[in-house]
Amino acid sequence: MGGEGERKVTIDRIKRVLVVGAGTMGHSIAMVFAQGGYEVDLADNNEDSLRQSLKLIRFNLRTLKDAKMIDSGSIPKILGRIHTSTSLDAAKEADLVIEAISEIPEAKKELFRALDRLCPARTIFTSNTSYFNIFQLAKRVRPGKMLICHWYAPPHLIPLVDLVRGPRTSDMTIKTVKGILLKLGKTPVEIKKFIAGYIVNRLQRAMAREIFYLLDEGYATAEEIDRAVKSSLGIRIPVVGVVQRYDFTGLDLSLTIDRNPSIHLVSKDRRPKTLTRLVEKGYLGVKSGRGFYDYTSKNIADVLKERDKKLIKLQKFLIKEKF
Ligand SMILES: NC(=O)c1ccc[n+]([C@@H]2O[C@H](COP(=O)([O-])OP(=O)(O)OC[C@H]3O[C@@H](n4cnc5c(N)ncnc54)[C@H](O)[C@@H]3O)[C@@H](O)[C@H]2O)c1
Repeated sequence: MGGEGERKVTIDRIKRVLVVGAGTMGHSIAMVFAQGGYEVDLADNNEDSLRQSLKLIRFNLRTLKDAKMIDSGSIPKILGRIHTSTSLDAAKEADLVIEAISEIPEAKKELFRALDRLCPARTIFTSNTSYFNIFQLAKRVRPGKMLICHWYAPPHLIPLVDLVRGPRTSDMTIKTVKGILLKLGKTPVEIKKFIAGYIVNRLQRAMAREIFYLLDEGYATAEEIDRAVKSSLGIRIPVVGVVQRYDFTGLDLSLTIDRNPSIHLVSKDRRPKTLTRLVEKGYLGVKSGRGFYDYTSKNIADVLKERDKKLIKLQKFLIKEKF
């Protein structure tokens, strides 16, 4: 790949961003770009999602203002850069597309085909898919300008964005998107080829098996597991990550531990009993007022705000101390 149109797509030429899907991820991604000075078109085929997204963006901006990360004067300017629509009309002016619609393969495939027809040749396409190989799904859609750009919730607070190359994604496309993400204050991490779950979701999934096993078999409560992790891995990981830690442990000991037969890790086929029971009871987590923990005495907005305040505080500290 890498024709004339390709060469023209440099960071400075990206002015207008189209975010499709205004749900949990899309509204916050749109906000990040608007904060960075980009004109953002936020499209969703559901009018209620768009209404809710604007409410959430205002809520998020207030949280950032309370944390002194933005001043109140910038809020109307940021909001003024976000234009919502139930159509894809804005595609014809988009320099960069962020696909953040529901995780339904057929819907994503259809959307990319439509965007390919509507967008100019210069437009870069990114997908926020968590698990699908978009390079297979939308095989014929501008392979040189297609990549996975996978954000973490909430995107306006979590720095990591996975950048996953497809077999034909051009270096220029990667360079452009990486440059934009760095400009937005994000931490892009490049993954050389597609693997479902990328890095972090794969690690989380492996941990989930053990977490649900410990809960199901009554080895520890949710509170005890969280306390154990927050006061060990929670402190160590920001300093030594998950790979460098082995250098501190010693690779010889790490090899012995890896071969120790006494820890039988849980099989991937085991079904999590507690999780299933809670879902059947309608305990879906913060959004329903109850999950592993009980939030019924609290307002959901306060629970989210409390989490965001702590995330911001920790992040400010990590940035200040240059971790
Ligand atoms: N929620 C997370 O923590 C998270 C994290 C990383 C990646 N992701 C991925 O991001 C994507 C979006 O996830 P989400 O949690 O924001 O979902 P969501 O259900 O909160 O939002 C999806 C939005 O897409 C809209 N939509 C669906 N089909 C559409 C179409 N054809 N055209 C326009 N709008 C359409 C829906 O109306 C909805 O508003 C998924 O691929 C998901 O796997 C989610």
